[in-house]
Amino acid sequence: MFNSKTYIQRRSELKKRIKNGIILFLGNNESPMNYTDNTYHFRQDSTFLYYFGLNRAELAAIIDVDEDKEIVFGDDFNIDTIVWMGPQPTIKQQAAGCGVKITKPKNELSEICDNAIKQGRKIHFIPQYRYDNILKIHKLLGIDPHRVNEYASMILIKAIAEQRLVKSNEEISEIENAINISYEMHIAAMRFAKPGMYEREVAGFIEGLALSMGCGLAFPPILSRNVQTLHNHYYGNKLKDGDLVVNDSGAVATSHYTSDITRTFPVNGKFTQVQKFIYEIVLASNMTAIKEIRPGKNYKSVHLRAAEVITDGLKALGIMKGNTKDAVEAGAHALFFPHGLGHLLGLDVHDMENYGENNFGYDEKTKRSTQFGLKSLRYARPLVAGVVLTVEPGIYFIPELIDKWQNEKKFTEFINYNMVNKYRNFSGVRIEDDIVVTNNGCRVLGKPIPKTIEEIEEVASNKI
Ligand code: GLY
Ligand code: MN
Repeated sequence: MFNSKTYIQRRSELKKRIKNGIILFLGNNESPMNYTDNTYHFRQDSTFLYYFGLNRAELAAIIDVDEDKEIVFGDDFNIDTIVWMGPQPTIKQQAAGCGVKITKPKNELSEICDNAIKQGRKIHFIPQYRYDNILKIHKLLGIDPHRVNEYASMILIKAIAEQRLVKSNEEISEIENAINISYEMHIAAMRFAKPGMYEREVAGFIEGLALSMGCGLAFPPILSRNVQTLHNHYYGNKLKDGDLVVNDSGAVATSHYTSDITRTFPVNGKFTQVQKFIYEIVLASNMTAIKEIRPGKNYKSVHLRAAEVITDGLKALGIMKGNTKDAVEAGAHALFFPHGLGHLLGLDVHDMENYGENNFGYDEKTKRSTQFGLKSLRYARPLVAGVVLTVEPGIYFIPELIDKWQNEKKFTEFINYNMVNKYRNFSGVRIEDDIVVTNNGCRVLGKPIPKTIEEIEEVASNKI
């Protein structure tokens, strides 16, 4: 948790942006895995963490903008809870840590909401993603549970998204702490993975590291020989000599800030010549994108530039053909690069995605494309200094997609399907770094993680 001044300043900034009404914040509750007392690892809501920093279940808070009053709601542990869970600081003591002086038992929240409703005051809340909190909003505000998110306050969403978009130096330093744990995880995976091992052995090894050094993982790791499956969460394959392995994983620092790094490495420590060809194209795309990033530039144009580098590289291998800009404009490269170049990063690994990507990643001037590939770009707007993003181009050979496009004779002017089919069992390569936009470019965050072929071979061939 940061110093209380950080949270006081964040709430004061939000009050200026909202101007009137009551802002309602719901913290997360414990979430049962298979019965009530057997819970998933507790994860506090990121908006709650951003404004109050309190990592405890069953809290709520309000900011009464009209009366300039802030209240945290929660119940102190009674002796029964202390017996099972140990003693905890009181809600009052914890709230003091984020600069909130008034605390109340959680059942007093409904009275405040009832009075506000009677007085016709606006109660702002953000979209909810957990069903228990949807039901809580239903109970507090009388909104049909199926329609709760339709009543989320757009003024609040926009205000919070603008505030969280630009990271302070203390936030960037925490993101770097998270990346530095990921550094250890990525080095360890390269050195630990061996032909004959199951993917789960490597996935379990890095998850243990993340837990031992911070708050565990930011998302279930993508640790697989099937690089072509973008969000593969299956770890049951045996790694074979000659395989590439994708490790897309990120740690959470004890401050709850996250990281998201991808490296693709040969399980036996040495890339084959064909693997080197594809790897070098993805690396060039990643490095070109990083060079292009600067304030004022929109991220969609950086994405398209990264796609051009991929297209040029695949043309050199005879896999694509024709005019590069035309191919990218038509979306032909998306057969190989079907996702966005990157996303915001912060307290969430896809930062603020719960507010709705179109509410912060796009605007009136930057409309979301419906084109396959480009439609998956999560953030497209012009960049400003302090924005933290991932840069994660990839090339994948997805047999099902290749067959579909070939049968449809799609983009035959840009794709040489005979050549593509020679690579159909290649799998893929993704390389992902985390950057912060600076005043005149960007900076790759954290300790440099091996990325060139030579750097990766040096680590991956030095087995533990
Ligand atoms: N790290 C997975 C993703 O960005 O979707
Ligand atoms: Mn990512």
